[in-house]
Amino acid sequence: MDINVIIEIVREAGEILKSAHLQKDQIFDKEGDANFVTAFDMKIQKFLIEKILEVDPSASFYGEEESADNKKEISSTGYTYIIDPIDGTTNFMFDYKTSCISVGIAYKGSMYAGIIYNPYVDTMFHAVRNEGSYVNNRRLTLENKGLADGISAFGCARYNEDSTDLLFATVKKLFYKTLAIRSCGSAAIELARIANGSNAVYFEMLLQPYDYAAGAVIIEEAGGVITQIDGSPITIDKGCSILAGTKKAAEELRKLLDECRV
Ligand code: IPD
Ligand code: CA
Ligand code: CA
Repeated sequence: MDINVIIEIVREAGEILKSAHLQKDQIFDKEGDANFVTAFDMKIQKFLIEKILEVDPSASFYGEEESADNKKEISSTGYTYIIDPIDGTTNFMFDYKTSCISVGIAYKGSMYAGIIYNPYVDTMFHAVRNEGSYVNNRRLTLENKGLADGISAFGCARYNEDSTDLLFATVKKLFYKTLAIRSCGSAAIELARIANGSNAVYFEMLLQPYDYAAGAVIIEEAGGVITQIDGSPITIDKGCSILAGTKKAAEELRKLLDECRV
C-alpha cells in the first residue's frame, strides 16, 4: 500500500464531489430522522472501492454505504479501508461547500493511516502511523492550548438523538469557557481541524468508524488525543462517542462532561 497513490485516488474522488450538480430525485431517505444518502455518496464510494482494488487487490472495505465489495467489517489480516464517501451529506444537499471524503486505513485490525480531503478548499490532510500528520504536505505539530485559547466544536445529528440533554448541557458550559463554539456539519472536517489547531476540541455523542477512523490517526500523529467521552479508547469495528482535542483542552472538556452528568 502506497499512501501517495491512495491520496491521489481520494483527490480524484474529491473532484467528483466538487463538480456534482445534485438533483432532487438523487436524494434518498435512510434509517432514522433526517438521514439521507445521495447518488453522489454511492457514486464516490463505488469509485473509491474500484480504484483502490486496482492498486491493492487484497483490500477489505468498511464503507458507510451499501455497495459491492463493502463487507463493513475490519479484516484481521491485511488493509481495511474505512470510507466515508461524503462526510457532511446534509451540507452537500444544501450546497454548503463544507463536506469531505474520509478514508481511514487499518492494518491487521489497528489504525494505520488516514486521509481527509475537503475539495472545496483543496485541503488534503493525511497521516501515517509514526510518520507524522500533514496538511497539503506541510507537517503539523499541535500547540497544547486549553479551551480558553481556542475554538471548541461539537456535532449532533437528528438521527442520533441519544444523550442530547448531556450534549447541550455541556455545550452551554463550554460556551462560557472557550473563545467560540462551532458546529460545521462534518465530523471528519472538525477532527482534521484539531490537527492543524483550528479547533481546540471536538465532541459528539455517537459517531461511526467511517466518521472518525481517518481523523483519529491524523490527530494522534499531530500530537492530539482522541477517546470516547469517558476517556476510554475509541473502537474501530463499531461506533462510539468521540472526544478529541489537544491534551489540555480534551481533559478540560472531559471534566465539563462529568459535571453535567451528575
Ligand atoms: C454526519 C456528519 C455530521 C455528524 C453526524 C454524521 P454524514 O456524517 O459527520 O457532522 O454530526 O453524526 O453522521 O451522514 O454526513 O456522513
Ligand atoms: Ca459521516
Ligand atoms: Ca457519509
